[in-house]
Amino acid sequence: MARVFSGIQPSGELHIGNYLGAVQNWVQLQSQHDCIFSVVDLHAITQAYDVATLAPRTVEMAVGLLAAGLDPERCIVFVQSHVPEHTELSWLLNTVTPLGELERQTQFKDKAQRQESVPAGLLNYPVLQAADVLLYLAALVPVGEDQLQHLELMREIARRWNSRFGNGFTFPEPQPLLSTTKRVLGLDGQAKMSKSLGNTISLFDSPETIWQKLKPAATDPARVTRKDPGNPDLCNIFTIHQGFSPPATQEQVAHNCRTAGWGCLDCKRVLADNMIAALTPIRERAQELRARPQRVTETLRAGAAKAEALARRTMTEVRRRMGFLDPREA
Ligand code: TRP
Repeated sequence: MARVFSGIQPSGELHIGNYLGAVQNWVQLQSQHDCIFSVVDLHAITQAYDVATLAPRTVEMAVGLLAAGLDPERCIVFVQSHVPEHTELSWLLNTVTPLGELERQTQFKDKAQRQESVPAGLLNYPVLQAADVLLYLAALVPVGEDQLQHLELMREIARRWNSRFGNGFTFPEPQPLLSTTKRVLGLDGQAKMSKSLGNTISLFDSPETIWQKLKPAATDPARVTRKDPGNPDLCNIFTIHQGFSPPATQEQVAHNCRTAGWGCLDCKRVLADNMIAALTPIRERAQELRARPQRVTETLRAGAAKAEALARRTMTEVRRRMGFLDPREA
């Protein structure tokens, strides 16, 4: 079985963009592969963040992942900072990472542009990400397209480490596993769905809230009146249908849109019903988990222990190949 690793930042509440773009796919993968999923809190501190809410956001993200269907019996779910080897390997990999490649990362350039003082951690973000995956010798990394450049750099880092130190032990070069679902935009139909932009539907929104948010949500901008035919391919609501509605419904929705057979509100009502059916059990599971916080922290502790055992094995090899004095021989 191929080893799979992926991570998600502890933004707090999961939204349907996270769910359709990543988490739903992870739930599928856990029954086909040897999967490790992490709440990457060490990545979350590379930009200005709220200290007081980091821990609760981390727990809440874990609650979301478990509620959405990650099963700790079938995959490892853990918090990145609970396995200190991530930080350790990250430092070691920094020494084989070309600075120029880090400076060329578009995500770095975007984020760096928006602040006056750029922390080195933001530049080194992709090195930590490489450490996440290489630590477990993972072969596959389910990610969105925005992470392809980081994956390419990760392979470059693996190659450089392998050619310098990989005598008898080498890192596999991890391949991306692109999700097939189209990226869901925010309800404004403009930017990507993101909590900080306030344009999300949360995975835990009540049926009433889902409908309240869907009603005014952006559709194909060319469809001004009820009589204008629309283009489902240009409609974010149709993209969400593709995540929640069965294929036959999707076809019918597309047809009714193209022929102006119905209005956007009719289309949204069908979507709301399908979303509510899919999300209600997830919302209820999350409520159960929140009522038992000890069980969640226990699950995370057990996950970290399993991850740690794998990480230690890799680090023993890495330390030896890089020539460090073994403390037991000192
Ligand atoms: N950078 C990823 C994101 O923002 C999160 C992440 C951290 C990750 N480490 C990872 C994804 C390792 C895949 C593998 O989405």
